[in-house]
Amino acid sequence: MNTTALSPTTEATARLTADSLSYRYPDGTHALHDVALTVSPGEIVAVLGPSGAGKSTLMRCLAGLHTPTAGTVRHDDADLTRLRGRARRHALARCGLVFQEFELVGPATVLSNVLIGRLVHQPPLVSLLHLVRRSDREIAVRALLRVGLEPQLRKRADSLSGGQRQRVAIARALAQRPDVLLADEPVANLDPRTAAAVVDQIVALAREENLATVLNLHDTALATRIADRIVGLRDGRLVFDRPVQAVDAALLDELYAGQQS
Ligand SMILES: Nc1ncnc2c1ncn2[C@@H]1O[C@H](COP(=O)(O)OP(=O)(O)OP(=O)(O)O)[C@@H](O)[C@H]1O
Ligand SMILES: [Mg+2]
Repeated sequence: MNTTALSPTTEATARLTADSLSYRYPDGTHALHDVALTVSPGEIVAVLGPSGAGKSTLMRCLAGLHTPTAGTVRHDDADLTRLRGRARRHALARCGLVFQEFELVGPATVLSNVLIGRLVHQPPLVSLLHLVRRSDREIAVRALLRVGLEPQLRKRADSLSGGQRQRVAIARALAQRPDVLLADEPVANLDPRTAAAVVDQIVALAREENLATVLNLHDTALATRIADRIVGLRDGRLVFDRPVQAVDAALLDELYAGQQS
């Protein structure tokens, strides 16, 4: 991995905090109940729990994609649940997202996909006109260097392997120069070896960039290998939040007990 820092002069230092977070879907499903979570800059938190526990819902609330029914989500002092307009767009732009589905524009080049990460920082008119500033292009190329994909820069995104596509998505998130990194099942579509390599890369970059990082993972062995802290969610409730050293097999068995496979 290339170790050129993305932002040598401005190190990210945002703390991500959720307080008394509840979320109810329009159909009445109460997916989160009174969840509290704090993630410090550079800290890696893995969220584990059975299917339907509320992991993706939590991630969407942390990213500002869902407005919680109750409670707050703060990126440092910025309360995502209260901000509106430009201030809200600015706060959301500092939040890098990586999803299970790579969410790339298939026919576009790798570089164009990563440049999308820069559009969030541009005034709407500039985004509409697709004007690419030289500085944005440099940031995008540097992000691709960081994930080892610079040689693929001009290739179509849909011509890459699954692992490479997820690396493009990581580069796109990095190109945003985020303070917070949120990844929802980022490696669920990859073979185990590629999955481990991609997660290792996310974690290494998150540490280098000092990002408050939350990963939803299904693979408990992988989660306990890479995370600083493990949060257990079940039926929308936080059932534990512990340093990884304090998480053992019995605790994980209890978290997943009764899950239909
Ligand atoms: N759009 C929706 N409308 C109504 N209910 C939803 C919606 N999306 C999710 N839910 C419900 O909210 C609860 C939490 O779902 P969520 O997707 O957050 O779980 P998850 O932990 O991410 O599960 P998985 O491990 O399968 O991805 C579940 O009961 C789910 O059925
Ligand atoms: Mg999910």
